[in-house]
Amino acid sequence: MYEVKSETPRHVAIIMDGNGRWAESRGLPRIAGHRRGADRVREVVESCPDLGVSHLTLFAFSTENWKRPEQEVQGLFRLLRRYIKKEGARLVAEGARVRFIGDRTRLSRELQALMAGLEAQTAANDRLHLTVALNYGGRDELTRAAQRLAEAVRRGEVSPDEIGPETLERFLDTVGLPDPDLILRTSGEHRLSGFLPWQSAYSEFSFVEARWPDFTAEMFAAEVRSFGRRERRFGAIAG
Ligand code: IPE
Ligand code: IPE
Ligand code: MG
Repeated sequence: MYEVKSETPRHVAIIMDGNGRWAESRGLPRIAGHRRGADRVREVVESCPDLGVSHLTLFAFSTENWKRPEQEVQGLFRLLRRYIKKEGARLVAEGARVRFIGDRTRLSRELQALMAGLEAQTAANDRLHLTVALNYGGRDELTRAAQRLAEAVRRGEVSPDEIGPETLERFLDTVGLPDPDLILRTSGEHRLSGFLPWQSAYSEFSFVEARWPDFTAEMFAAEVRSFGRRERRFGAIAG
């Protein structure tokens, strides 16, 4: 079945890119761009319910971002900890259900505890499903899923000839989430950088020039609206 001009993307996933360049172009340290970028998140999160977006996924740190200078990585994690502590109560009050995807085993105990705490505190909410991709990489996610699936086969819980796409999905970090309808990337780069390769098979894409610290709720609303003018066919023919 094809879907004609679905009005609103139910799930929007954002690659928040361009913080470093935003700062560098102003003669500021890169971390200043990340700080401004973190401030930008709130506006976009808050605008989702009114726009009809029920699921928002944000790419915050990739499995490849460890390649950056130690100082920047440390600064990013300091910001993330601060963000969870500072915004946690607000997210609870707003009815957001927060969950994290990615490999958290490499993160500090303190951060892991903050993440688990926020997930538990917001578990009963459903006004907005907010997913944060932290130490996330698509190949890493699929590899971990394959490992866990292989374990299930070994235990005799799954038979190899019964494995279908839905089986694999049960082992992904995103289990239970709808696929993103719209994937948006800021700062003019036209690539996924490992973001949701399985889940984006039929996503629409939007690449905007603005760097993430300059990306406003109005720009977000414009992207959400322009999605409504697209025709998704899912392999069928237009009706
Ligand atoms: C995105 O901004 C944030 C993270 C990757 C953590 P960048 O830091 O990649 O900014 P640019 O791409 O260097 O400008
Ligand atoms: C992708 O951006 C990761 C995040 C936004 C968290 P990068 O800036 O790391 O991607 P590349 O290196 O330009 O592909
Ligand atoms: Mg970048």
